[in-house]
Amino acid sequence: VSHTEVVSNDPVRIGVIGAGDISNEYIGNLNRYPDVKVLAVGNRDTTRAAAQAEKYGVPESGDIDSIVGNADVELILNLTIPAVHVEISTAALEAGKHVWSEKPIGIDRASVKQLLEIADERGLLVGVAPDTVLGPMWQTAKRALAAGAIGTPQSALTSFQSQGPEFFHPNPSFLYARGAGPLFDLGPYYLSALVHLLGPITQVLAVGSRASNTRKALSGPHAGAEFPVEVPTHLSVVSRFEGGQSASSLMSSDTARWRHGIVEINGTEGTMVIGNPDHFTGPGLQIYRRFIERPENMDFTQVPERIEEVGVKYGRGVGALTMARTIRGQNQHIATGEVAYHVLDAMASIEESTERERFVDLTSTVSPIPALAADFDPYARTV
Ligand SMILES: NC(=O)c1ccc[n+]([C@@H]2O[C@H](COP(=O)([O-])OP(=O)(O)OC[C@H]3O[C@@H](n4cnc5c(N)ncnc54)[C@H](O)[C@@H]3O)[C@@H](O)[C@H]2O)c1
Repeated sequence: VSHTEVVSNDPVRIGVIGAGDISNEYIGNLNRYPDVKVLAVGNRDTTRAAAQAEKYGVPESGDIDSIVGNADVELILNLTIPAVHVEISTAALEAGKHVWSEKPIGIDRASVKQLLEIADERGLLVGVAPDTVLGPMWQTAKRALAAGAIGTPQSALTSFQSQGPEFFHPNPSFLYARGAGPLFDLGPYYLSALVHLLGPITQVLAVGSRASNTRKALSGPHAGAEFPVEVPTHLSVVSRFEGGQSASSLMSSDTARWRHGIVEINGTEGTMVIGNPDHFTGPGLQIYRRFIERPENMDFTQVPERIEEVGVKYGRGVGALTMARTIRGQNQHIATGEVAYHVLDAMASIEESTERERFVDLTSTVSPIPALAADFDPYARTV
């Protein structure tokens, strides 16, 4: 991280763009982190922005331009829908603001590359969700792997599978359109977790299929409406990592069985079972050791060792907080635009592999990703 210029030691002033569902969790959490101050909320529909500002005690609200043009705002949170992420993040950078964006950073490589170039030229920071990777579950796993808890990591298994988001989402058609599907919607959590733990991906091979070419909304005002499925809804992915490891990943909205949050790393000395990368914390890590002698009865019953997660509980917004501290001269920015671009490159390559039916090489990499300090505390005043 190169941005170390100390501007002041006031809390970093944040403007939020997008006052939808996820803005509740963000603003609620950021209000509890003393190193930042949410100054303004903006939304296409300004009534909704005003309601969110009122609900969370945010002093100002308005339309999107009023946030971009607000001279007091230093860091913009882009909590809009994926299709407009790049457009809004670019406008924020051009107005001289640092940007934290919800995932994915964008939906095509070219526009995201340009976005990161603008940030570099202007010496501004870009950070991107998921920030769950900064949670105690993932940071404890990262430190344990570095300390050799399972020897040398060699492979990984990830899976999320369901009958599809129409079973809980009132307007699911956009989740089956280009730029969505299980790969672009939940894929960022699982791929970011793998990149944070194992490092950059070099190649992917994927087979994709869809159970049906159309699906139906099941609830809400659009109940019964049929819409087209534009993307694969079941993907079997193999990834190769720069460090020589491989990962097998299932990403599906086509299985009868619901099961999320499978992330396991196999090493030379054991298997680490982590948890759901959509969550900051879990039940604790489990380590399965290799047998050192022939198991009695050959029933292969294994009792895992446990590693407790280290750290206080926190949630979404913590990635923006680590950026804010970096803006004030600390060095905590970990969920960077560079990582998000690499994850987008992986997703685009996976999609291409399903079409071309062969390995696709990634065009990007990431620098080594540091772990957060074990005593990281978002509730402390540090700037
Ligand atoms: N809801 C969740 O549980 C959740 C969890 C994790 C991440 N996310 C991510 O957060 C982001 C927002 O999701 P959400 O669930 O809050 O969605 P939402 O539909 O509740 O809100 C979307 C926001 O985007 C704005 N918007 C829509 N189209 C726009 C346009 N063309 N121009 C400008 N603004 C526009 C809307 O006004 C609204 O404020 C997405 O990137 C999503 O992937 C959501």
